[in-house]
Amino acid sequence: MGSSMDRRSPGAFVTGFPIRHSRSPLIHGHWLKEHGIDGRYDAVEVAPQDFAAFIDRLRHGESAFVGGNVTLPHKEAAIALVDEADETAREIGAANTLWLNDGKVHATNTDGYGFLANLDAAAAAWDKDASARSAVVLGAGGASRAVILALRDRGFGTIHVVNRTPERAQVLADRFGSRIEAHRLDALAELLDGGGFFVNTSSLGMDGNDAPPIDFTTMAGDAVVTDIVYAPLHTPFLRWATAAGLRTVDGLGMLLHQAVPGFERWFGVRPNVSAQLRQVIVDDLEGER
Ligand code: ATR
Repeated sequence: MGSSMDRRSPGAFVTGFPIRHSRSPLIHGHWLKEHGIDGRYDAVEVAPQDFAAFIDRLRHGESAFVGGNVTLPHKEAAIALVDEADETAREIGAANTLWLNDGKVHATNTDGYGFLANLDAAAAAWDKDASARSAVVLGAGGASRAVILALRDRGFGTIHVVNRTPERAQVLADRFGSRIEAHRLDALAELLDGGGFFVNTSSLGMDGNDAPPIDFTTMAGDAVVTDIVYAPLHTPFLRWATAAGLRTVDGLGMLLHQAVPGFERWFGVRPNVSAQLRQVIVDDLEGER
């Protein structure tokens, strides 16, 4: 690291447009305090037309940041602008975590890691016999890509991607390999029958968005249902799955776990996703309602 930065406390950013709704400053601020680290984590609003210049300043050490998070709408643009995007980020086509090393801006995507770590922590053996089972993914937008790749890499035999616009699901199936199959929404009931895993990656059930009722009672008794939506925390999909007697995992843990690798890179300590941290974000979500 350049000597001009040695006397400054390390700083990281989250950048998006808009950025004021991001919970990342609360998460990283909690960890900085917990570990007594003299560092900063700032929300920086950057308009799309200014994003390339922002990355340039980062690269040249002019912004006093050692790295940071990128969120909407910069996640795809980041791939093209950084010097080294790793294989995960390139395959997903979007980056969410950047860091500076030897004058180069590096990028990865930790969403898939966060998705898996959340399930591993909250639902033991959720991926048991994965190669002999199928997973159902609802939604084929940007958020679904990391989830589909994570399930593929965890070894699920078949990953059914169900989407209102089936052509978008087909694009992902073509891109991510033969174990991924695209379906229309009306195939959902049949796909869930006997299935072991369901995840909602669509915006259905997000605050203010209605979701069509889904019958989860036909899934395997040990099936796990999760949602990457965390506002509200108890989404319609999770409520229906609970009513069907299935194990459920909410999406807040994914948000918390995806933040771990970035914090470790920027500040040198691997932080914990504790019940206390979770409560900080739950309180914030409730304060907004
Ligand atoms: P993101 O990048 O957050 O995933 P997105 O790319 O806009 O956002 O994708 C939103 C997802 O929610 C898509 O799968 C979308 O379906 P389409 O591809 O058909 O647009 C899905 N979605 C949003 N509103 C929906 C609705 N009313 N019914 C069904 N699916 C919906």
